[in-house]
Amino acid sequence: RSLSVVGCPFSGGQHRSGVDIGPTTLVERGLINEIRTLGWDVEFTGHQAFAHLKPASDPDDGKLKNPRYVSSVTRAVADTVGQVCKAGRFPLIIGGDHSLGIGTIVGVMQKYPDACVIWVDAHADINTPETTASGNIHGCPLSFVTGLANPPTESFAWVPKCLDFSRLAYIGLRDVDFHEKQFILENNIAAFSMHHIDKYGIGKVVDMALARVNPDLSRPIHLSFDVDGMDPSVAPSTGTPVRGGLSWRESMYICEALHETGCLVAMDIMEVNPSLANTPEEAEITISAGLSLARCALGDTLL
Ligand code: ARG
Ligand code: MN
Ligand code: MN
Ligand code: MN
Repeated sequence: RSLSVVGCPFSGGQHRSGVDIGPTTLVERGLINEIRTLGWDVEFTGHQAFAHLKPASDPDDGKLKNPRYVSSVTRAVADTVGQVCKAGRFPLIIGGDHSLGIGTIVGVMQKYPDACVIWVDAHADINTPETTASGNIHGCPLSFVTGLANPPTESFAWVPKCLDFSRLAYIGLRDVDFHEKQFILENNIAAFSMHHIDKYGIGKVVDMALARVNPDLSRPIHLSFDVDGMDPSVAPSTGTPVRGGLSWRESMYICEALHETGCLVAMDIMEVNPSLANTPEEAEITISAGLSLARCALGDTLL
C-alpha cells in the first residue's frame, strides 16, 4: 500500500485568501506520520509549486475569475495525479480550493476511466460558466468534468468529459443554487442532502449512494471531501461555511465506510483554510478534522 501526498496550496478558484496554507498546515501538523503509522508507504516530496503558472494578467472569461491561472494549475494537478495513479500509488490530494477537483478527477480518470466519484460537500459545485453567480471556479468543477459545460470555455478546452452523471454521488448537500438543482434532477444525479441523512441515517445514506454509483463494488472510488460538508461547529475554518452540516462522526463514518469497500483509489481533502479562524481553537479543530478524515479513509480502525 503506497501513497503520495499531493499538496496543492492554491486559492485561485475563489476569492478568500489563506486556503493555500491549508495543505502546508496539515503537513506541519503531522499528516505524513499519521498515515505512515497506518502502515502506508508514504511519498511526499514537498507541495506543488504553482507560482510560475500565474499569468501576469488574467482577465475574466465571461463570468469566470482567474480562468487562465485556475486552468493551468488544475491541468498540472491532473498530470501529477495521473502519474501517481499510473505508478500504482494512492493520491491523497490536499487543498486548496475545490476548483482543484477538476485536476484530481481528470487525473484519476486517466488510470481508472470507470471510477465513480463521491462528492461530500454542502455545495453541488456544478455551476456552468453561464449559471455561476459568483464567477468562482470552485463552484464549477463538476460541470467541467461531466461535460455539462463542454468545452467549459476556451481557457478550459483541455478538460476532457470524463465523468458520466451515473458515476457521481453527492453526500451532505444543503446550499445548492437554482440551476444546480435543475442539473441534478435533469441528469438524475445521485444526491443525498442533509435531509436524507436526518431521515435515513448516515449508514443507510452511504449504502444508498454506493448502490447508485457502484452497486457491485466493481468500480474504483474517488472521494472528494470538501470540509464545508462538515458542520461549522466541527470545521469552522473554511471559506463558505453553511449551517446544519455533517457531524464529526457522520463525516468520519463516510470515510471509514468507503475505506471498507476496498475500492477507494484516491481522496481529496479540500477547502481547509486555517487563516479564516476567529480563534486558535477554530483553526485547530478544522485541521484536526482534516487529519481525521485522512486517517479514517486510509484504514484507521480500532478493531
Ligand atoms: N454555489 C456557490 C458558487 O457557485 C458556492 C460554491 C462553493 N464551493 C466550494 N467549493 N466551497 O459560487
Ligand atoms: Mn463546499
Ligand atoms: Mn449558495
Ligand atoms: Mn466544494
